[in-house]
Amino acid sequence: MKKYLTHVRGHYQDLGFEEFFATLEAESIEYSVEKKEDQVLIFNTKQNPIKAAKRCAFLHSILTLISIGNVEEDKLELHEFISLPEIEDNKTFAVRVKKVGKKAIWQDLPDLERELGEYIFDNYREQNLKANLRRPDYLFQGILIGKRLYLGLEVWSLDRIEYENREPGNRPYFRPGSMKTEFARAIVNLSRVKQNDVFYDPFCGGGGFLIEAAKLGANVLGSELDKFAIYGCNQNMKFYEENYYAIIRSDSRHLPIKEVDAIATDPPYAIQSSTHGENVNNLIYDFLIEARSILKKDGYLVFSSPAKHESELLAEKAGFSIQKILDTRLHKSLTRRIIILK
Ligand SMILES: C[S@@+](CC[C@H](N)C(=O)[O-])C[C@H]1O[C@@H](n2cnc3c(N)ncnc32)[C@H](O)[C@@H]1O
Repeated sequence: MKKYLTHVRGHYQDLGFEEFFATLEAESIEYSVEKKEDQVLIFNTKQNPIKAAKRCAFLHSILTLISIGNVEEDKLELHEFISLPEIEDNKTFAVRVKKVGKKAIWQDLPDLERELGEYIFDNYREQNLKANLRRPDYLFQGILIGKRLYLGLEVWSLDRIEYENREPGNRPYFRPGSMKTEFARAIVNLSRVKQNDVFYDPFCGGGGFLIEAAKLGANVLGSELDKFAIYGCNQNMKFYEENYYAIIRSDSRHLPIKEVDAIATDPPYAIQSSTHGENVNNLIYDFLIEARSILKKDGYLVFSSPAKHESELLAEKAGFSIQKILDTRLHKSLTRRIIILK
């Protein structure tokens, strides 16, 4: 059993934790949570968690934990030694410390990084490590929360460029009302979709969710009422070199589909995207009834809604069981609610 630390992204930490738990479940990785505080999760697992982490849009990094300690008035004390991850000989390293939350007390981070550097150097004396601050082979990270310091070796970190390339404005077909890619990815992840599963988005628009599910290796299926969106969605799928997909023109209240493994979608609420004249409540309710009839047993359906709309009430009425509700505040007048159903 190894002990790891996951650092989730600041603003949306609840979403980050839930996204990570969902991907661990989707990748059949057994784990136990030891501690959850601010943006940090300490967990134990016998399996390699990188496969799950790699899928996530709201994680900063994963570390193998080395030591836990305290800092008191510029004095560092690493009192709990956990493990020394194996590294190769004659490599380079750097130490970086991140403050998490507003409570971190040590002000002079370079000074703390130097102290931790000496600690690492002492512990890996036989490996002949050399410092290289710019391009180290190994990055050791200190995470400082208040007085507590976690020290670990980074085993994975997020590459945000990958998401930027797929932002709605960078796709060949842009459709107003498309969600930012990292949110689309997180919502797709919450549906626990696995490689080779059939993933379905019944309001697929320009295909933001379909692209993310396809990148995870799912066979993706989208439907849409608007023929221009279908044309654009096809263009986007081809641009991102996705092969295993189908997009059909269909009303999400009458779906010509038998069974799917996972559903994630961003329905229209007549704010940024059209309901094509339909009453929003009727449309959402009828879609949920239809979705329930095609979702495999124990499959997940995840959808977004403005928080004030309280769409979860419609989901319960349609016979779903609510697994979790996550509210993410986008700006003063809009909180996006993500509703996770089974
Ligand atoms: C919020 S947008 C989806 C955006 C999409 N996730 C993307 O990345 O572009 C909602 C979409 O639902 C479509 N729509 C509205 N009513 C529909 C219905 N009854 N059946 C299927 N699609 C519908 C709209 O044309 C719109 O493209």
